[in-house]
Amino acid sequence: MAITLNINGTQHSIDADGDTPLLWVLRDILGMTGTKFGCGMALCGACTVHVDGAPTRSCITSVDSIGTSDITTIEAIGATPAGAKIQKAWLDREVPQCGYCQSGQIMSASALLASNPRPTDADIEDAMSGNICRCGTYARIREAIKLAAS
Ligand code: FES
Ligand code: FES
Repeated sequence: MAITLNINGTQHSIDADGDTPLLWVLRDILGMTGTKFGCGMALCGACTVHVDGAPTRSCITSVDSIGTSDITTIEAIGATPAGAKIQKAWLDREVPQCGYCQSGQIMSASALLASNPRPTDADIEDAMSGNICRCGTYARIREAIKLAAS
């Protein structure tokens, strides 16, 4: 069926079943491969995008549940004030190792900073606990979020 999605400020008309996960549409139909597939079960956070500013697991979000909401992906998060600060801090603190989880980490951190400009350690832990990093970059992620908030 024809579905229109508002992604990064642009309307995209796609042909997909309504129960297709947003992640599949982003990567396989639109070629926006910055958002990663990890577990496919909302357990790792690699697929995190924003839907109306809220961090959302795109692997379990069907395209017919999105309606007219605004989707933001890693490709455009740097154009938002919080996303720009987070990306700068990520570079400054050299956060990534293999990088696989990092787009999801940045999306969750950007949503946190946009809603809470001065997050405490507990706020950071709460917001980031669903984003898994097999390389163990957690300490640098925390440092970078604090830098972005300073
Ligand atoms: S791929 Fe979506 S949470 Fe793991
Ligand atoms: S940087 Fe490798 S999984 Fe996080």
